Amino acid sequence: MAKKLTAVYPGSFDPITFGHLDIITRACQLCDRIIVAILVNPHKSPLFSINERLEQIRHATRHLPQVEVDSFSGLTVTYARMQNANLLIRGLRVISDFEMELQMAHTNKTLAPEIQTLFLATSNEYSFLSSSVVKEIARFGGPIDHLVPAEVAIALSQKFAAHSNPALCP
Ligand code: PNS
Repeated sequence: MAKKLTAVYPGSFDPITFGHLDIITRACQLCDRIIVAILVNPHKSPLFSINERLEQIRHATRHLPQVEVDSFSGLTVTYARMQNANLLIRGLRVISDFEMELQMAHTNKTLAPEIQTLFLATSNEYSFLSSSVVKEIARFGGPIDHLVPAEVAIALSQKFAAHSNPALCP
């Protein structure tokens, strides 16, 4: 009998983009269970709270029954072990992603040799896309409907409307 594959797809997802969704959707064709896991990173100041990101990802993946959404702190491999995962999924967009991703994969391999990193090439149409790019466009009021799910686009415009109108910020 084939081994059941449980994958953790870790990241910041601040916010989730169509590039992330492309990777999640394609990972669903390969794995029995996929946990999209948001790192709670005390060294970063994210635009969206963990709860906002959990909700955004749950909504964006609600049509994919294998997908669970969670958050974690600490090492990715510790979390993956806790979930009995045998795979870590990471997307590769461009060559420049590769250097850091390979280093991370090798590091994780030394920490948890039983867990494999599986790289999926992001589809060409999203190879330029990152959460930072989306935030940059949204900050200046540019169109982002082709880059993120509708709910995320709305949430981004609300965030930046609140930021640009200090009277609305407590
Ligand atoms: O979406 P991101 O910011 O590229 O995701 C990076 C992430 C969360 C996958 C990476 O920073 C990570 O795994 N952090 C947890 C700490 C850890 O396990 N470090 C060891 C591997 S370098």
